[in-house]
Amino acid sequence: MSEFAKLPRHVAIIMDGNGRWAKKHKLKVALGHRKGVEALRSIIRESSDLGIEALSLYAFSTENWKRDPQEVEALMALMLEFFASEIDELDEKNVCIRILGDKDGLPEKQRQALIDAENRTEKNTGLKLNIAINYGGRAEIVRAARLLAEKAAAGVIRPEDIDEASMARELYTKDLPDVDLMIRTSGEMRLSNFLLYQCAYAEFMFPTVLWPDFDLAAYHEALHAFGSRERRFGGR
Ligand code: IPE
Ligand code: IPE
Ligand code: MG
Repeated sequence: MSEFAKLPRHVAIIMDGNGRWAKKHKLKVALGHRKGVEALRSIIRESSDLGIEALSLYAFSTENWKRDPQEVEALMALMLEFFASEIDELDEKNVCIRILGDKDGLPEKQRQALIDAENRTEKNTGLKLNIAINYGGRAEIVRAARLLAEKAAAGVIRPEDIDEASMARELYTKDLPDVDLMIRTSGEMRLSNFLLYQCAYAEFMFPTVLWPDFDLAAYHEALHAFGSRERRFGGR
């Protein structure tokens, strides 16, 4: 059995601080991102080994396009590299990959790699690994509203049938439990448009460590702290 009193079903992580890590080590920002991928590998593996149901990682926001083209290019290249090098092991570990976000807004190679990863692991029953790429929480909610409106306009549903459950079914996170634990590294205390709808009752943690330094000890600390939080969901 696990050493944890109570594990979250769904962990979400805003992997922040790669840029500051690179600066601190006098390295190019792309190297910070590369180092960040190493941290991500071990957190994915550990989540799978611990039997956590779902892990959602914020890899690239709709706002991140504002960055220097060179940095965006480096991130896109890393994305391809990540899927090429990890997909065999993830598939072997029974991990089911889902991309949260608008894949159509990505370069063709990246788009195809993400679709391939999703298709290949679709039937896997282990860790549900959600990677948010070209993702924005508000855009996700707007998209869901539009999908519901289309169904209503077509007469498939009535406006009064729309409820929280039907809304949740139109989100990228369809069929996943709400986020239980939201971790953002690097000391920043904001959501930056990540999983706005799904975090209604999430527990938040803001470790000051920069993402490339977020190791298993730091992850375990967050999981232990989660176990001692009292969650009331509005009750007494
Ligand atoms: C997070 O690290 C990774 C991405 C946004 C892709 P940052 O690049 O935002 O790192 P800081 O915030 O500049 O340190
Ligand atoms: C959020 O981090 C996005 C990812 C970690 C992918 P940012 O670094 O982009 O967020 P802000 O700009 O500090 O809010
Ligand atoms: Mg940042």
